[in-house]
Amino acid sequence: MKLAVIGDIHSNHIALEACISHALKRKVDEFLFLGDYISDCPYPQKTMEIIYEMDQKYRCTFIRGNREDYMLNHRKDSQEKWTYSSASGNLRYTYENLTKRDFDFFEKMDIQGIYEREGYPSFRYCHGSLTKSNELLTSQNKNLENIMDSLDVDLLVSGHTHIQKSMEFGSKRLVHPGSVGIPWYHDGKTQYMILHGTEYGWEEEFFQLSYDVDTVKEEFRTSGIIEKALYWSKLNIHALETGDDYTSHCLLLAMELCKEAEGEVIWPDIPEKYWKEAFHNFVKDS
Ligand SMILES: [Fe+2]
Repeated sequence: MKLAVIGDIHSNHIALEACISHALKRKVDEFLFLGDYISDCPYPQKTMEIIYEMDQKYRCTFIRGNREDYMLNHRKDSQEKWTYSSASGNLRYTYENLTKRDFDFFEKMDIQGIYEREGYPSFRYCHGSLTKSNELLTSQNKNLENIMDSLDVDLLVSGHTHIQKSMEFGSKRLVHPGSVGIPWYHDGKTQYMILHGTEYGWEEEFFQLSYDVDTVKEEFRTSGIIEKALYWSKLNIHALETGDDYTSHCLLLAMELCKEAEGEVIWPDIPEKYWKEAFHNFVKDS
């Protein structure tokens, strides 16, 4: 059994196509999608078209990520204000490019699941953790040992970290396939993994692939997302080019600078001048 595990696409349809065609050449039997299909990169509808096509053509399993949760929650909460700005412009742009079909598709999904096939050991999978779509299962998570301890199978596969990694916890293993769309490290190469299954267990094989980053960068311009979420988009472009993602660092610094100067800060109302200062603090050569 060969299972392609595809996580954190973040609307990067060009990287997604590269991973899918690589997996098909390796004759995978199934695809497991770990969520965060959309947001950050341009034209989410292009990613969703590929997802629907995959669903029709191949045996696929889909779960929901925190980005899909943000979109679903925003639809329910008319008070939440997303403006065109570095803080929330990317979310608003993505939201405006989704269709009813997309929302219905996200709503049907769970945030976790168990893979059960006769002749293979069962394993569990999730976007963040088994209970929260935005929990990071990294070594910094104080709850990680407990989570792995209480796991009722030998393998947990989770996304959201954007880092390809495998960690041992006694006889149990936690594996992250990396991110297709905003991959960390490896010079920004797109990442996914194939799980090779036998009756004895599962072995992961990690891939990092070169793909057409220039076209994605061009789409940031043609789609208009760069004007709607200037520094967030510039940070994402920087991450695509280098594998170094400063979005969270920059958001925190911009909020700190705003609070220092204005006494308070309420996301997403962070003036662009603070984003500009924070951006240049992390990305020196732009
Ligand atoms: Fe995520």
